[in-house]
Formats: sequence, structure tokens, C-alpha cells
Amino acid sequence: MAIQSRIRLKQIRLAAYALVQADRLLLGKVSIGMAVRRIVPAAILKHIFGYNWVYPSLAEAKAAAAGFIPSSHEHPASAEAHLSLAQNARPSDYPALFYLDRIIPTCRSVFDLGGNVGNLFYCYSKYLDLPADLQWTVHDIPEMQELGRKVASRRNELRLRFDGTLERMGEADLLLASGCLHYFDRPLPELLAQSGARPMHVIVNRTPLTDAEPVATVQDAGAYLTACKLYHRNGLIARMKDLGYELIDQWSVPELSVHIPCHPDLSVPTYSGCYFRLAPCHAGREVAVYSAKPKVNRSVPAAIVTYCFPSTPNVIGEA
Ligand SMILES: C[S@@+](CC[C@H](N)C(=O)[O-])C[C@H]1O[C@@H](n2cnc3c(N)ncnc32)[C@H](O)[C@@H]1O
Repeated sequence: MAIQSRIRLKQIRLAAYALVQADRLLLGKVSIGMAVRRIVPAAILKHIFGYNWVYPSLAEAKAAAAGFIPSSHEHPASAEAHLSLAQNARPSDYPALFYLDRIIPTCRSVFDLGGNVGNLFYCYSKYLDLPADLQWTVHDIPEMQELGRKVASRRNELRLRFDGTLERMGEADLLLASGCLHYFDRPLPELLAQSGARPMHVIVNRTPLTDAEPVATVQDAGAYLTACKLYHRNGLIARMKDLGYELIDQWSVPELSVHIPCHPDLSVPTYSGCYFRLAPCHAGREVAVYSAKPKVNRSVPAAIVTYCFPSTPNVIGEA
């Protein structure tokens, strides 16, 4: 990278750090970020803070990021970081593990959206008894799929497979969407509605859900930049309900945040996690519910319950 580009990145990072820290120190009593936005013309602020800004769409955030650092999720540092993180569970993994411990014995197939090189599979296999015949499909971009296959082959791991399509989401008993929904241009309910998939269990984790106006922004991972979209919490919950899901639980993820300098009102101080389950009702398609007791013959359904699939529009808009 040219020296001018490096200096420019350092300047942007320093400016963002200083403003976010100043706002943190004031504990939200007065916001310097908001004050600066009121006083200083937007064109000047945009120049100072570079990609650290708000954008109306993911595409615009991506274009802004690419003007500073062209690499994004495909950067090898992403796989390295995730494999290193896989060695131990993070605080936000524990609520997911709490539910997975109950769900996994009833599951034959997991769809791990944005699953990187399978880091959650490796991490969770230390905490859970993942059956030998469990199919764990990781959906990610081609670069991560290729690396993931190499890692799985080195570790002789046969339960993992890697896929760039959403087709296998329909076969899954559990959809795990951890740390990835904000990178998708379409909200989760729309992905489900368009694919027709209705996994019995959906765990959303490490997601920057907002209660404010949904915007897109850019996250700085050091070696690469990622454009992300902050989806509206109530919009997600309401649209999942439209698809037949009930919200069983939600939790906050204290270790992750998105701070947009000059826009503390649109920032997300803590990420969120949610557990959704298909709601039983008396109309619609029949779904086999597998016994929740571990160590049963998982090929035999314990009961057949009728679950409802309300008719859904093909495209579900965002909140
Ligand atoms: C922060 S990582 C999350 C990894 C893991 N699920 C976790 O929670 O630790 C986000 C992942 O989403 C993937 N991703 C981003 N955009 C994607 C897209 N359009 N399609 C598939 N995967 C995507 C990235 O490559 C990356 O592996």
C-alpha cells in the first residue's frame, strides 16, 4: 500500500477513535459526535472520517470501503482470525450453546449461514456432543469454502460440507446465522421467504440490530474493510412471526458494537442474539418433531405436529 494511503488510513482511524472514545467517556450525557455533526459541514466531516460514515444501502457502503481498502471478507486474515477465535467460546456463544445443547439431539442437519471456514463447528464441538451423522453445512463466499474444505480435510472432519447456495437451508432442522446477517443485502426473513426454507429452529447471534433508523456503514477489520447493514430489531421479529416463527429468547452481545463517529444515535452499542422456533398451530404443512431427549434413535420422529406456514409475500421489505 502506498505511503499516502497508509497515512490517510491512520488519520481516519485516529479521528474515529478519538471521537468514539470522547463520547464513551461522557457516558452518553453529552454527545460530542452529535455536536460536531451539527456544527461542522457534512462534506468536511466525510473527508475527516472517510468510510466511517452512514450510507443508505449496503452497495453504497461497499463502494465507499473499496475506495480505501479493496479487500473485504475474502481476505485470508478473516479465516485466520476465525480459526484462532474457534479455540474458545466467546461470551455471546454461551446463550447459543445453551439452546444448541437442547436442540442438537433433535437435529440431523445444521445450516451455518456465513459460517466462515467452520469456526463455530470446531468451537461448538468442544462444548456439545455433535453426533457422528450430523450434517453441518457451512454457507460462505467461495474463498472461505475453499479454505474450509482444506481445513476439514486436514482435520479429517466428515460432518462439514461447504456450499455457496441457500438450497440446503430447506433440509436443515437448525439455521445458525451468527455474525453474518448484517453482511447480506436481504434481511433474513426475505432469504427464508424466497428460498421456501423453514428450519424448525433459527438462532441469530452476534448481529448489530438497531432500534433506530436502519442504515449501512463500514466496519474496519484492520487488514480489510466490511460494509454492513444494521437491520431493525422489531422488523426482524415481526417478519419472522409472519413466517410462522415465535421468538423464544433474545440476548445482548456485550463484546461487539458498531460505533459510527458523528452518528452515535445510529450506532449499535451492543450486538444481539435471538432464538426463533416454528410455532405450532393447526393449519398448514406437517413437520416431524424429533424427541428432545438425547441419545434416542434420531431417525424416528417422536411425534408429528402440525406447524403453520402462513402464506407469505415473495419479497418482504425491511422495517
Ligand atoms: C464475522 S464472520 C462470522 C463467522 C461465524 N459465523 C461466527 O459467528 O463466528 C462473517 C462471515 O460472513 C461471511 N459473509 C459475508 N458476506 C457473505 C455473503 N454475501 N455470503 C456468504 N457469506 C458471507 C464472511 O465471509 C464471514 O465468514
